[in-house]
Amino acid sequence: MVLKSEVSSFVKSTSLAQDVVAAKPRVVLPRTGFTADELRSQMEKLLKRESNTDKDGNVFAYTYTLKDEHYRLQQEAFDMFCEKTGYSGEHDDIVKEFFHAFMHENALNPMIFPALRLMETEVVSMTAAMLNGSSETVGFLTSGGTESNLMAVKTFRDMARAQRTNIRRPNIIAPITVHPTIDKAAHYFDMDVIHTPVGNDFKADVNAIEQAINSDTVMIVASAPQFCHSVIDPIEEIAALAARKGIPLHVDACFGGFMVEKLGYKIPKFDFRIPGVTSISADVHKYGYSVKGASVVMYRNASIRKFQIYAYSEWPGGLYGSPSMAGTRPGGNIAAAWAAMKALGEDGYMRKAKELMLVTDKMKEKGLCLMGEPCMTAFAIGSDEPNLNIQAVADAMETKGWKMERNQLPDSLHCSILPHHISKVDKFLDDLEDATDICRNNKALAKKGTAGVYGMMANIPDKGIVTDFLVEFFSEVYKCK
Ligand SMILES: Cc1ncc(COP(=O)(O)O)c(C=O)c1O
Repeated sequence: MVLKSEVSSFVKSTSLAQDVVAAKPRVVLPRTGFTADELRSQMEKLLKRESNTDKDGNVFAYTYTLKDEHYRLQQEAFDMFCEKTGYSGEHDDIVKEFFHAFMHENALNPMIFPALRLMETEVVSMTAAMLNGSSETVGFLTSGGTESNLMAVKTFRDMARAQRTNIRRPNIIAPITVHPTIDKAAHYFDMDVIHTPVGNDFKADVNAIEQAINSDTVMIVASAPQFCHSVIDPIEEIAALAARKGIPLHVDACFGGFMVEKLGYKIPKFDFRIPGVTSISADVHKYGYSVKGASVVMYRNASIRKFQIYAYSEWPGGLYGSPSMAGTRPGGNIAAAWAAMKALGEDGYMRKAKELMLVTDKMKEKGLCLMGEPCMTAFAIGSDEPNLNIQAVADAMETKGWKMERNQLPDSLHCSILPHHISKVDKFLDDLEDATDICRNNKALAKKGTAGVYGMMANIPDKGIVTDFLVEFFSEVYKCK
């Protein structure tokens, strides 16, 4: 058994010593965002910490970089992509600068790139603080909500295997509205998901969860909010049940909305304030406003988190350890996530959340047929008119240039309210009214286009056929001509 003291004296002998000795229990989001110039001067200091392949040429792995025209071309391609996808303004510029500066670095080895490690731990720490974690709360950065959820599932599977003797085939209990990343995780890690129903309000049914628990249950998952309708599951009740049964509860909070309560809206609690919440996933690349490839998975303490880490000591290539699915972890995403959070700060996130909540409220006030009680910056629109097919409305909206997100079981249209909607809210509402008028009492439209496909799929009893269709679709689409 390796002693903790041996590990800490090893760490003190490495390039990480200065951070580990100086580590604060919790780095929180700055109250006011740093200016771009302040962040630039921090970047200079951070870069000095790294093993610089360009200047020193001293590393034999991790970076495969041509610092020439080719390198600049990649930076330009990234910038052009950002501009096309709506990133602009001072905040985005500094995020891009951080991405550029660290884009060829690799967080696989924290001793080679100590600044990446520092930025990663600070992003985790700032997120944990936002979600009322204690000084014990720890986590890792991942590439997105999917990887965060995959990692939570792996962690609790391995923890159950280590701590319980009676597990045959581990299972997860989750409401049907949980994000499919949980099903994907179960598929990858050879586990089962027991799906429980939701009520008419689209919230998880706590009794159904209780009924579903069995001796192979290794975790419960609930969402805050779930993506489909932006409804928050009754986390307090589920957490009380989980604690009573001694089962970990993972809260998928990837979809964000962490400032909504602070803005004064009455929303149910879902974070580490609730004792039975064991872990939370939260995406920095969604409402954290960083570039794609950043999410955080957090655990109540390090003794839980250790089950996420993979280590292998017998490889001829050396000692291998990795905290998440990815081996190479792109430095650009980590640096950009750090810069996004430091640039916005608490007041920046509050401002953004307020703007989006005002747009969301304005849309909700228009008498849309909402599914359940969405309470963050998203909602789903259904139809309460027997002669109005909402999928046909989506098709009509698409002819007006909108790209609609379609829910099923029952049909509705998912709307995440995003910064670009601030200037488009009236146009959206006018178009929706118009599309609704076109589709009302028009049965033929419900049979055409994507509405027709959804209608057909809904009538296929064997969902295996639909799954095969999806697999075939991806095989067909991802081809080079
Ligand atoms: C609640 C929730 N969990 C997980 C995910 C998956 O996140 P990603 O697409 O970043 O992997 C999403 C994506 O929308 C989500 O809304």
